[in-house]
Amino acid sequence: MASSLMLLQLLPFLCLHWLIFIASTSSNEIPKQPYIVYMGSSSKSNLIIQNGEDVEIAKLNHMQLLSSIIPSEESERLSLIHHYKHAFKGFSAILTDSEASALSGHDHVVSVFPDPVLQLHTTRSWDFLAAAAKPAKNTWFNHKYHKAASDIIIGVIDTGIWPESPSFNDQGMGEIPSRWKGVCMESPDFKKSHCNRKLIGARHYSRASTNKDNSGSSRDPLGHGTHTASTAAGTYVSNASYFGLAGGTARGGSPFSRIASYKVCKEGGCSGAAILQAIDDAIHDGVYIISISIGLSNSEADYMNGPIAIGALHAQQRGVVVICSAGNDGPYPFTVSNTAPWLFTVAASTIDRDFQSTVLLGNGKAIKTYPLAYGKAIAVNSTLLSEARSCRLGSIDPKKVAGKILVCIHTDPIDTRGRKIAGAENVEAQGLIFINDDEKIWPTERGILPYAEVGKVAGFRVIKYINSNKNPTATILPTVTIPRHRPAPVVAYFSSRGPGLPTENILKPDVAAPGVAVLAAIVPRPDRPGGIPAGEKPATYALRSGTSMACPHVTGAAAFIKSVRRKWTYSMIKSALMTTATVYDNTGTPLTNSSGNNANPHEMGAGEINPLKALNPGLVFKTTIKDYLRFLCYYGYSKKNIRSMTNTTFNCPKKSSAKLISNINYPSISKSKLDRQGAIRTVKKTVTNVGSPNATYISMVNAPSGLAVKVFPQKLTFVEGIIKLSFRASFFGKEASSGYNYGSITWSDDRHSVRMMFAVDVE
Ligand SMILES: *[C@@H]1O[C@H](CO)[C@@H](O)[C@H](O)[C@H]1NC(C)=O
Ligand SMILES: *[C@@H]1O[C@H](CO)[C@@H](O)[C@H](O)[C@H]1NC(C)=O
Ligand SMILES: *[C@@H]1O[C@H](CO)[C@@H](O)[C@H](O)[C@H]1NC(C)=O
Ligand SMILES: *[C@@H]1O[C@H](CO)[C@@H](O)[C@H](O)[C@H]1NC(C)=O
Ligand SMILES: *[C@@H]1O[C@H](CO)[C@@H](O)[C@H](O)[C@H]1NC(C)=O
Repeated sequence: MASSLMLLQLLPFLCLHWLIFIASTSSNEIPKQPYIVYMGSSSKSNLIIQNGEDVEIAKLNHMQLLSSIIPSEESERLSLIHHYKHAFKGFSAILTDSEASALSGHDHVVSVFPDPVLQLHTTRSWDFLAAAAKPAKNTWFNHKYHKAASDIIIGVIDTGIWPESPSFNDQGMGEIPSRWKGVCMESPDFKKSHCNRKLIGARHYSRASTNKDNSGSSRDPLGHGTHTASTAAGTYVSNASYFGLAGGTARGGSPFSRIASYKVCKEGGCSGAAILQAIDDAIHDGVYIISISIGLSNSEADYMNGPIAIGALHAQQRGVVVICSAGNDGPYPFTVSNTAPWLFTVAASTIDRDFQSTVLLGNGKAIKTYPLAYGKAIAVNSTLLSEARSCRLGSIDPKKVAGKILVCIHTDPIDTRGRKIAGAENVEAQGLIFINDDEKIWPTERGILPYAEVGKVAGFRVIKYINSNKNPTATILPTVTIPRHRPAPVVAYFSSRGPGLPTENILKPDVAAPGVAVLAAIVPRPDRPGGIPAGEKPATYALRSGTSMACPHVTGAAAFIKSVRRKWTYSMIKSALMTTATVYDNTGTPLTNSSGNNANPHEMGAGEINPLKALNPGLVFKTTIKDYLRFLCYYGYSKKNIRSMTNTTFNCPKKSSAKLISNINYPSISKSKLDRQGAIRTVKKTVTNVGSPNATYISMVNAPSGLAVKVFPQKLTFVEGIIKLSFRASFFGKEASSGYNYGSITWSDDRHSVRMMFAVDVE
């Protein structure tokens, strides 16, 4: 039983590699694989007037380029798998390495790179069932505001969507906004009628190597896309609950906004070429916010080879907001992904709800108990004891588990908790006690299997008890929800940390949002009868964890802000959410990480978003296309590439170096390599007044001792006609401790407080 489950888990990965293998060996010996050929900005300023004829011409040009490279006897490869044509130009195709490098030398080509496989930023758990409770966050609930959100269209690039979910019911929604130019793609299991005034569009893309296969569907087989879409903009669903447990009203962050689904992922990963195509289409379709809970794990190298970074650069040029997850590779530094400054990068935090189950060891009590079985003691013959100890699937003897409570020590990041719960259910265990690193404890999926997670100390007691008793037994009491749990929020253990790998001179992640045990819609799984109590229907709402879940909270918040502040641009919304974020938890003390230390900006960004406060930030930092162009110069791209990427005649400043990146008008400051013996380093920032016209702001610095931070001027006075003012912040690290020093500069008038985080690396 256990081994067949494992096979199922492996299958998707095998398929993927198998397809790549076919693609690379079909016609002759030279290996081939899908490549993305990125050719910069589209020259069209207006996407809507672009007609079929233009698209055909662009296609012809790209085909011509391809045929100049691919030998004529291999004409079967002369096809564009994906074709980027709206906001930017390019295509994906099957190429050899040498063809790819020949193309990259071509005049109109900016970059050529292998189609990467990106991962969903859901938890490391395989969580298919969960107990439910109240929706994540209710702070910005107000009908009046949300009505205005109905012409905001949110594009969710993910695993597709389950249209039957009550979260996508369109009752009470008005006409679809006229800016919508998208489609509802049909397939045998997804009819046009599955789209409505809430779910207004759905597209799906195949991975590059399987483009001949038209059997795709926009339907979500995994539940990830359904969960993220309903978190961002699911409508009100009263009494959403998991088998009657802890019911409440489920709703997304902007429940009246429209959803368009773009399916780019399958089990095993998401094609970068498909993501690019989806972003291009979403821009064309009239989406205002794109939500992407996907990223490259630990390997983000360069912006021009990153499909999300490339697509998002063009999106922001067209006024489209792109919000991304930071990744789940924490708590180690340099793990944050999606770090381009034009992306809005979201870390995950806990919410004020906890789940606890109590384990009672031993007999002598009236409650029914079950024998305990320690994984290590019931290993199959051929396995490593270390694997059995952590109950890796297939390593324990099913016959010896049946009817018992299984005890495992989680030391094995490859096999997730979710899989082990599923595995334990499969071998008919009566329960599972999971001994986990204290810090890794965060509530997650729960099937109907009694399940308890204990830290090392309690775990040691359990093991000691097993070792000292002939017939150890235990009982697991039902899990209870503990509302108003304190402290919360806490930065989630798994949330990826800054600084970013490509450059340390932009502070990432940007903000934190709820990403632990978030209740939202899922795809019901009737095929898992073991997980459904007798007489019940499969659950349609579930708790999931990951920065994947945090990202759509910010998406919903951004939609809400846009609906109230119609004239605000993307960077104003981002700045407002950053400078008003809270850095305190619900005990009134500084927000912490999961080991109880004060969280720093590499963990939580500017802090936990506070959408209501973000409506009135007082001042905003506007980051313009010029800032991004300068960023690209400072980062080291050539003028030629920057020009073709952005369709401008921009000239890089004479002095361009990575150090200057800190100077772009970003709402936070990061400085790497501040030489303690060196001169004072200064950054200049400009703020725009969006509050009442007459206002005086005073600056206040919060810096660790030893780091000298001066702000000049210390007072900013806005009057009618003067809405923009600049200030300088200088850093001097002679006495500072080595490594990163964190702090903030806050501008306050009597009504607002505008906090700008900084991280300065002193060496
Ligand atoms: C690109 O540049 C051309 C020529 O300068 C201009 O006509 C066109 O509007 C520009 N496109 C965009 C997207 O700005
Ligand atoms: C909510 O759900 C529970 C359990 O499914 C049910 O007993 C109850 O009647 C429902 N309440 C409402 C108001 O629908
Ligand atoms: C929490 O922060 C402290 C101090 O920065 C750090 O030493 C510790 O590793 C962090 N814990 C986690 C789980 O990130
Ligand atoms: C494992 O080994 C024991 C003793 O060496 C033997 O009795 C048992 O049949 C073996 N079990 C399996 C599943 O091979
Ligand atoms: C701002 O100050 C000017 C000059 O003192 C005054 O004329 C104007 O009415 C003030 N505006 C507001 C909105 O208070």
